[in-house]
Amino acid sequence: DKGGWSSFMAKEVSEEPEAVAKTVLGRISGDDIVIPELEGMDELFSGIDRVIVLACGTAYYAGLVGKYAIEKWARIPVDVELAHEFRYRDPIVDAKTLVVSISQSGETMDTLMAVKEASRLGARTLSICNTQGSTIPRESDAVVYTHAGPEVAVASTKAFVAQITALYLLALHVGRIRGSLAPEVGAEAVEQLESLPEKIQWILDNEQERTEQLARWMADTRSVLFLGRHVGYPIALEGALKLKEISYIHAEGFAAGELKHGPIALIEPGQPVFVVVPSPRGSATMHAKVVSNIEEIRARGARVIAIAEQGDSAVLPHADEVLRIPLAAPLFEPLLAVVPLHIYAMGLATAKGLDVDQPRNLAKSVTVE
Ligand code: F6R
Repeated sequence: DKGGWSSFMAKEVSEEPEAVAKTVLGRISGDDIVIPELEGMDELFSGIDRVIVLACGTAYYAGLVGKYAIEKWARIPVDVELAHEFRYRDPIVDAKTLVVSISQSGETMDTLMAVKEASRLGARTLSICNTQGSTIPRESDAVVYTHAGPEVAVASTKAFVAQITALYLLALHVGRIRGSLAPEVGAEAVEQLESLPEKIQWILDNEQERTEQLARWMADTRSVLFLGRHVGYPIALEGALKLKEISYIHAEGFAAGELKHGPIALIEPGQPVFVVVPSPRGSATMHAKVVSNIEEIRARGARVIAIAEQGDSAVLPHADEVLRIPLAAPLFEPLLAVVPLHIYAMGLATAKGLDVDQPRNLAKSVTVE
């Protein structure tokens, strides 16, 4: 039931605040994150020396974001790998490896087979999953459910924000156990997590219409590029995937720092480029570098749509459009910056008269390898 929305995707994007809130619910204890499902596993988390995150598609991008949080808070080295690539390369894995799989459906065959292979090689396995009782959690030693609610549209949206949320909860939980998380850092993260739903809601209330209008203006666009840096990089990848998937427009995401190593050659007059701008409060250097990337592509005629925090006036002279997101600590920005990109992809597909819920050639859960 679409509950009055024009599509399941529209409904599910509107549920992004709730997806985060419900995933956090019941997992906060005072200033700490405590995940009840992981009770009794402290020894395991203290004993591991690396984490490998395995997933496909959008879930893989959530994993790329999660790497920053796990390394920062839990101080464990993290590799993030496409599940179908992991399986066929004779991976080096042992009992001190924690393999974290991420899957909305819990039925993705590529991810399932990679988890089985990791288990066979002796790794401990933990699944982040949105579907109770599905196959991947059953094949794993532990599960942390995302509580995004059923996702019907083929393109994943609310599950993505819930997956990042769950990874952050896991990073905080493990960081506390390993003693690598300073209590005040943990307390700040808890505060950030708790305030996310209303910030996402702010974007839906204040920037959705403008983003959709932008998408309508761009209905004839043949290619869109997405740039991001640090945690904004996987968001650029996600923005590009969503656009390809439902609007059939060529799209590519790049790490902003990679621009001068090749992709800048693609920039010609009129080329639309979305740029995820990191907060200047997080790292002034990184912010300045991204602003200078914007200047470089603008000088070559790109049409720049910046996603930047409220009050960041440095982007104004250089961008054609600025979509605003509320202030958040740097690691939490991806959960906000992705929202306009989901809206944009949906808006563009709608403007082209396409079925946003059922894009051609795709299935909701990919149960073949
Ligand atoms: C993109 C999308 C896919 C899935 C991928 C993994 O919008 O929906 O890329 O993210 O097929 O699916 P799950 O999470 O069910 O394993």
